[in-house]
Amino acid sequence: KTNRTFTMIKPDAVANGHMGAILDQIIKNGFTPVALKYTYLTPELAGKFYEVHKERPFYADLVKFMSSGPIVAAILEKENAVAEFRTLIGATDPSKAEAGTIRQLFAKSIEANAVHGSDSDENAEIEGNFFFSAFERF
Ligand code: CMP
Repeated sequence: KTNRTFTMIKPDAVANGHMGAILDQIIKNGFTPVALKYTYLTPELAGKFYEVHKERPFYADLVKFMSSGPIVAAILEKENAVAEFRTLIGATDPSKAEAGTIRQLFAKSIEANAVHGSDSDENAEIEGNFFFSAFERF
């Protein structure tokens, strides 16, 4: 359980044709998908997913952006998954992300930043459960 994280490939990256390249990077870096789906968030669902950011000034825009097109949602397995995945994706703001990270390679802005990665084991569990039922994960 603690060796799992949750990710989304966000609408910007899917729309820009980076879905395959990002999945390739994730898998090449040793993450094994245990659940994977191509889906989308309605504004209501995006609002629920990002509820912790409700009071932030960027919340309304974030909800609008995250429901603007299809996404890929996945639960990934690797030792120390949460921290390892955050290293692979780089800083939230792509202009501050290290060279070779997924956000440095594929993200356009702090909002349209190509991928999500859970920030804790607890949130990885909550976020994975938001998208996947028990029989949808290996
Ligand atoms: P994510 O890791 O999915 O979690 C919260 C998201 O809010 C974050 O990625 C960004 O897409 C977005 N976000 C965080 N900070 C800002 C900001 N200052 N302005 C706009 N969007 C932000």
